[in-house]
Amino acid sequence: MGNAKILLDEKEYELPTVVGSEDEVGIDISKFRAQSRAITLDSGYGNTGSCQSAITFINGEKGILRYRGYPIEQLAKQASFSEVCYLLIYGELPGGQQLEEFNRGLTYHSMLHEDMKKLFEGYPPTAHPMAILSSMVTSLATYYPHAHLEDRLDVNIMRLIAKAPTIAALSYKKAIGQPFIYPRNDMSYTENFLHMMFAVPAEPYTVNPVVERALNLLLILHADHEQNCSTSTVRMVGSSHANLYVSIAAGISALWGPLHGGANQKVIEMLKMIHADGDNYQKYVDKAKDKSSGFRLMGFGHRVYKNFDPRARILKEAADAVLDQLGVDEPLLEIARNLEKVALEDEFFIERRLYPNVDFYSGIIYSAMGIPTKMFTVMFALGRLPGWISQWKEMREDPKTKINRPRQIYTGATERAYVSIDDR
Ligand code: SDX
Repeated sequence: MGNAKILLDEKEYELPTVVGSEDEVGIDISKFRAQSRAITLDSGYGNTGSCQSAITFINGEKGILRYRGYPIEQLAKQASFSEVCYLLIYGELPGGQQLEEFNRGLTYHSMLHEDMKKLFEGYPPTAHPMAILSSMVTSLATYYPHAHLEDRLDVNIMRLIAKAPTIAALSYKKAIGQPFIYPRNDMSYTENFLHMMFAVPAEPYTVNPVVERALNLLLILHADHEQNCSTSTVRMVGSSHANLYVSIAAGISALWGPLHGGANQKVIEMLKMIHADGDNYQKYVDKAKDKSSGFRLMGFGHRVYKNFDPRARILKEAADAVLDQLGVDEPLLEIARNLEKVALEDEFFIERRLYPNVDFYSGIIYSAMGIPTKMFTVMFALGRLPGWISQWKEMREDPKTKINRPRQIYTGATERAYVSIDDR
């Protein structure tokens, strides 16, 4: 691919191009400002690449998502979440021995320092679990102050992935006033989480294999998604050489937004509202088309997927299977299906290429598994953890990485002299 040319103020500038392994083309503007004094402007970075990455490939037009080259459909069907964690972070699927060691690490690092329980005591029972997760992940940096040392990175990666489900489950137990359940060493990563969430000291708890498989699927589908809002936040914070824990905590905060990972909670709240309104889904499709309403069909639309989101397609199928296997009759699923059908035939959505995204069906499955609505975005964060970590690690190991510092176009007041209070 040859150079790009920009003609500015009758002067021509040649800019090199970069072509990726999937033939994506980027114009490298890193030298443009030095030559022209002009910058490029792309608010929201919708058309700007922040980095080159070998982790996840998305083709929004064709609905393709691959982790390290493996199609999401194959990983969803055949892999375990801990395999996908290893793949994203270390670049290859683990061999038997490697996976065994990785799983052992996840098991033996799942406990929290006992003093962290005191931090939970300070929260009100109404505390949102995303606020708790973000602050507790930041607090891990106080217990592991050497997290910034490169030779301690692997153990801190292990600690973070292993302890996050424990923190999440503790925040749930705190909210419902039940005693904390400790992780067990005889359980897999997903079994342990379900056990910590739903076991009670008074009686034995058996993990339902249908629920465990659904959890494994949901975590894999959320594991990475290239340079989305929260991942870009993790890279931004990590570029200042802030440690892993606080960089990931920043990503958790960004994910909480209702336009991003917080949408899965909003989808269920929206479906419940429609159900309470006599299942009148057409009314809400019409409302979403009316700009003045400020209402959006949560779980619809995507910055990159302008065709179907492959994760939504997998979750739509899984919703049927999981609810059927669990014997759950969920009226919200019927509403979701009708919403999707009506919207996909409606010119407003077709014209804007708005399709269901990963958040549209995930909440229905979480609900059937017994996960409370307020925990949905925490579930998204648990899935996204290996993606954030892999992107942070790739950024920190790239010798070309510099502290992220975008430019701006100033539109404020030009120079003016200070006026004393008496003269204002
Ligand atoms: C995630 O980036 C990622 O990869 C994110 C994610 C990941 O895995 O990390 O995939 C996870 O965040 C999925 C998205 C979850 N958010 C929602 O479901 C919230 C509802 N969706 C939207 O708010 C919106 O679609 C976004 C934020 C997802 C995408 O926004 P865009 O691409 O910037 O779209 P836009 O806001 O510029 O809207 C384009 C048009 C507008 O209409 P016009 O001004 O052109 O007339 O589409 C309309 C919007 O009003 N529109 C919607 C809509 N989404 C966009 N109208 C109704 N309902 C919607 N959901």
